[in-house]
Amino acid sequence: MTRVATGAILLFMVALAGIEAGRQDIDHDVLRLPTEVSNFFRNNNNNKNKNDKNDNGVDSTGTRWAVLIAGSNGYWNYRHQADVCHAYQILKKGGLKDENIIVFMYDDIANDIENPRPGIIINNPKGEDVYKGVPKDYTGEQVTAGNFFNVILGNKTGLTGGSGKVVNSGPNDHIFIYYTDHGGPGILGMPTSPYIYADDLVDVLKKKHASGTYKSLVFYVEACESGSIFEGILPKGLNIYATTASNAVESSWGTYCPGENPGPPEEYDTCLGDLYSVAWMEDSDVHNLQTETLHQQYQLVKDRTGKRNNGYGSHVMQYGDVPLSKDSLFVYMGTNPANDNYTFMDNNALRQPSKAVNQRDADLLHFWHKYRKAPEGSPRKMEAQKQFVEMMSHRLHLDQSIKFIGRLLFGIDKASEVLSTVRPAGQPLVDDWDCLKTLVRTFETHCGSLSQYGMKHMRSLANLCNAGIRKEKMAEASVQACATVPSNPWSSLKKGFSA
Ligand SMILES: *[C@@H]1O[C@H](CO)[C@@H](O)[C@H](O)[C@H]1NC(C)=O
Ligand SMILES: *[C@@H]1O[C@H](CO)[C@@H](O)[C@H](O)[C@H]1NC(C)=O
Repeated sequence: MTRVATGAILLFMVALAGIEAGRQDIDHDVLRLPTEVSNFFRNNNNNKNKNDKNDNGVDSTGTRWAVLIAGSNGYWNYRHQADVCHAYQILKKGGLKDENIIVFMYDDIANDIENPRPGIIINNPKGEDVYKGVPKDYTGEQVTAGNFFNVILGNKTGLTGGSGKVVNSGPNDHIFIYYTDHGGPGILGMPTSPYIYADDLVDVLKKKHASGTYKSLVFYVEACESGSIFEGILPKGLNIYATTASNAVESSWGTYCPGENPGPPEEYDTCLGDLYSVAWMEDSDVHNLQTETLHQQYQLVKDRTGKRNNGYGSHVMQYGDVPLSKDSLFVYMGTNPANDNYTFMDNNALRQPSKAVNQRDADLLHFWHKYRKAPEGSPRKMEAQKQFVEMMSHRLHLDQSIKFIGRLLFGIDKASEVLSTVRPAGQPLVDDWDCLKTLVRTFETHCGSLSQYGMKHMRSLANLCNAGIRKEKMAEASVQACATVPSNPWSSLKKGFSA
């Protein structure tokens, strides 16, 4: 093995050991495996459907609307777009019409050169194609925070590009929103800049409520620290029920990743799904959704996604108007007539996976597998190695810059305490969101883009605001900490600003 290769291996080990160091979710940088889950229900469940509402899955009251959004791009993020495609298939089989399902996905996966099955996307090792038929409403550079907000608000004039489909809902309608990607405290990633800030998202939800154009709204979010999107800022009384893959201070998890059992088919170097997402979808796939409530699904997903003694997994949370969770899933997702005889029963919970991969390490895992499998001396091996090393050095740069800035502002003794403070549950991440956005912008101006990985530092930046740091001091410290803006692919010069 060459010296460079050995270097890359060492870096990888450093990464696994150190990336999350100092965080609450660290005990688990080990990769672990999901057990077999598919078709678990079918064998178990022959109950007759008890409460048929009416035929055809159509409610007499109002229309079902859905907005599905994958916030990432890049083949190493395969799983997020796979999740969204799968969600579309559930809703479609549930009886929702395409005109009422609005899909945001970058759409660079199915035909990526790395995809071993061109034109096909799967979300489960034994899964069928979920890509077929998915509407391409907002793709590529049209997957923006602005378009997402305007689609929810039904504001056609605010759109830039795309199919023009919006949630044109009325007062009796039900809305389901599902987001999946990387995130960080107070923030959800997007393939374009800027990212989605929690306060802006909640403002949009308040506006939607004020416009009187829905009866109830359900929001499922998969992302690291996704609890922080609603914690302390989503008010009750908006008729919104939200669940998140994790609480405000921990990562969420990819699943069906290379090296797991079951993992993806051998030819895939990438995770196929995410733990929380796959948990709700593999549940919705098989049941008569008239017989299962949101609350029952929450319990089941919480159980499957939850942290066990091995330390992987995350705490699924619920926010907003929790009493709404007594609604049946049918109200939001319809139901697949083929599942009519598969009544939900509490004891048929999906099995706990025995392995999962931290969202933030899934990209490293991809480049690692690509590297490992490429023939010795091939251009592909060189490329994978370059990507791996670039990503690692980008991570180190970000971690060190934030730490350095903390020390410049608070001194060596106090810095780590300020940067890592976690506010008590129920409090928002930051009091002044504009301050947070300003500090992010200032940091990125001097130190380069936070990007996907750097979102994990959002709490440190929020804590600077909470401690009274404003733009000028932040600029001074950033200039000192980052003598030069890095010129790698992760630079803000190339990626744009996150705020
Ligand atoms: C729709 O979007 C445009 C452009 O962003 C904005 O000026 C307008 O106020 C929005 N309308 C509503 C009803 O939100
Ligand atoms: C459900 O069970 C009934 C009675 O056994 C049967 O007639 C019907 O075809 C089944 N429906 C589906 C969708 O399998």
